[in-house]
Amino acid sequence: MFLTINGLAKSFGANEVLKNIDVSVEKGRVVSIIGPSGSGKTTLLRCLNALEQPDKGMFLFDDGLQLNFEKKVTKKELLELRRKSGMVFQSYNLFPHKTALQNVTEGPINVQKSKKTEVEELARELLRKVGLEDKMDLYPHQLSGGQQQRVGIARALAMEPELMLFDEPTSALDPELVGEVLRVIKDLAKENWTMVIVTHEIQFASEVSDHVIFMDGGYIVEQGPPEEVLKYPKEERTKQFLHRILNPA
Ligand SMILES: Nc1ncnc2c1ncn2[C@@H]1O[C@H](COP(=O)(O)OP(=O)(O)OP(=O)(O)O)[C@@H](O)[C@H]1O
Ligand SMILES: [Mg+2]
Repeated sequence: MFLTINGLAKSFGANEVLKNIDVSVEKGRVVSIIGPSGSGKTTLLRCLNALEQPDKGMFLFDDGLQLNFEKKVTKKELLELRRKSGMVFQSYNLFPHKTALQNVTEGPINVQKSKKTEVEELARELLRKVGLEDKMDLYPHQLSGGQQQRVGIARALAMEPELMLFDEPTSALDPELVGEVLRVIKDLAKENWTMVIVTHEIQFASEVSDHVIFMDGGYIVEQGPPEEVLKYPKEERTKQFLHRILNPA
């Protein structure tokens, strides 16, 4: 098991956003998270990326890193947690005044203090991998949404994370641009990247995932293989959600 999450809880003031979340992520596997707006999906990813601190619960990694949020978690532990994962945001979050290449090299140069020439070589390779070999010197405003998001993916990969986190990576895109981004994520799945993906793309989730989690109201209502959760859900709330999302009014 790459990561085991036990009893994770997070509140914002009186609002309990995550309640007793248990999740396991296997190495080289894809976990997808689905669920209605406000159910806590982004908060869960942000906890995994150390952008938020849980109130309760444990993260146990296969290399021995343990974060117990009942106790005081040190800055060093949070930094180790942060380093493990790369996050791809719904809104791309690229630096507007940097080129595609500079967006990808920024993290390794400034955070990891790696050598510029080596980082540039890696960044070019990653931009080729996401199909942007001819766009490396363009700025975000000169790129389509799908191209910007592929830069976002290359940027996350450049930090050489063990875990890739995607927060609705295609929901800001025009429908015709969704496919090119999903294809890149599918390629990563084939290369056995360990990934957690929040998505509303049910067909994609059923194709790419090894495990699907349905969240509602801060709880995991149901989880299991995609054939079960997406095709033959047991819980009424899962059935209703899938019906709504697959039959938009
Ligand atoms: N920084 C914050 N401060 C206060 N409340 C927050 C904060 N971040 C999230 N919340 C609240 O936590 C709840 C869950 O939010 P979250 O963004 O995790 O949901 P989500 O499942 O990602 O929804 P969506 O599908 O709309 O992205 C919401 O009620 C939200 O208002
Ligand atoms: Mg969200």
